[in-house]
Amino acid sequence: MASINASSSGTFKIGGDLEVNRLGFGAMRITGDGIWGDPADPAKARATLKKLPELGINFVDTADSYGPYVSEDLIREVLHPYKGMVIATKSGLTRHGPNIWAPLGRPEYLRQGVLMSLRRLKVDRIDLWQLHRVDEKVPADEQFDVIKQMQKEGLIRHAGLSEVNVGQIEAAQKYFKVATVQNLYNLGNRQSEEVLDYCDKHNIGFIPWFPLAAGALAKEGSVLSKIAGKLGASNGQVALAWLLKRSKVMLPIPGTGDPEHLEENVKGASLQLSQEDYEALEHAVK
Ligand SMILES: NC(=O)c1ccc[n+]([C@@H]2O[C@H](COP(=O)([O-])OP(=O)(O)OC[C@H]3O[C@@H](n4cnc5c(N)ncnc54)[C@H](OP(=O)(O)O)[C@@H]3O)[C@@H](O)[C@H]2O)c1
Repeated sequence: MASINASSSGTFKIGGDLEVNRLGFGAMRITGDGIWGDPADPAKARATLKKLPELGINFVDTADSYGPYVSEDLIREVLHPYKGMVIATKSGLTRHGPNIWAPLGRPEYLRQGVLMSLRRLKVDRIDLWQLHRVDEKVPADEQFDVIKQMQKEGLIRHAGLSEVNVGQIEAAQKYFKVATVQNLYNLGNRQSEEVLDYCDKHNIGFIPWFPLAAGALAKEGSVLSKIAGKLGASNGQVALAWLLKRSKVMLPIPGTGDPEHLEENVKGASLQLSQEDYEALEHAVK
């Protein structure tokens, strides 16, 4: 058991001073279907969270909208006072039912989001707070400005963005230092390659969501399944190992509500891909 540890993924300093093991945990899957309500098996969800520190995971990603509130509440219940763990959260999406997500970026709502996450997580300051979506109906400057203010007031330590392009990162940088960017990215979907390269160049943490997916590569007989077979690993473990090798700023946060899946994912952190296998996977999907 001692050898299964997220520290095998290496470390990254969020915002230049908040060090975490690069393989983190996404806490979206400890809620109900459609990321709505309580998980089907709350004991299993709690057991998954309890296992995080044992496996060396010290970076957890959540959001007020997961449940909503269910994920943050469970995290506080099981992990508070966190003991060196970084709990990153987000606001800016409202919920109106299972699988429904509607952006709301009015400054007063973002401020409420932060204040309520502080209460739910029972902390004085949020280590990493992320704007879940830039709301197109609200001037971006107003959204960035309130983040700057909340950072100045000490409500949030570092700030990040989610689902943004390079232009939006640069626009936000005029207000605050962008510590992380969380975009959809995985072996099978690399539409955010340009953003990742930008983050790599500027030492901004890049948090790929949906990291275990591999699209067409997940099929039997694919390059991925052949490499996984050769290494005695699962497709998901190889997908994680590929992400970790892709960039030093990559912070994958695979999500699960199952302690066994969690352990399997952490094992992926110690999987070393040869350069040849890495490149074969890189070129398998354009
Ligand atoms: N910023 C955004 O807009 C955004 C959007 C989506 C997600 N996120 C964040 O990113 C995190 C990861 O994304 P994600 O949860 O969508 O995708 P993911 O981590 O790639 O995949 C999660 C899915 O894979 C399953 N799974 C996990 N480990 C497994 C294993 N070892 N074996 C078999 N199945 C496994 C999970 O089911 P089980 O529970 O059954 O294991 C779940 O259905 C989320 O938790 C959330 O924190 C952010």
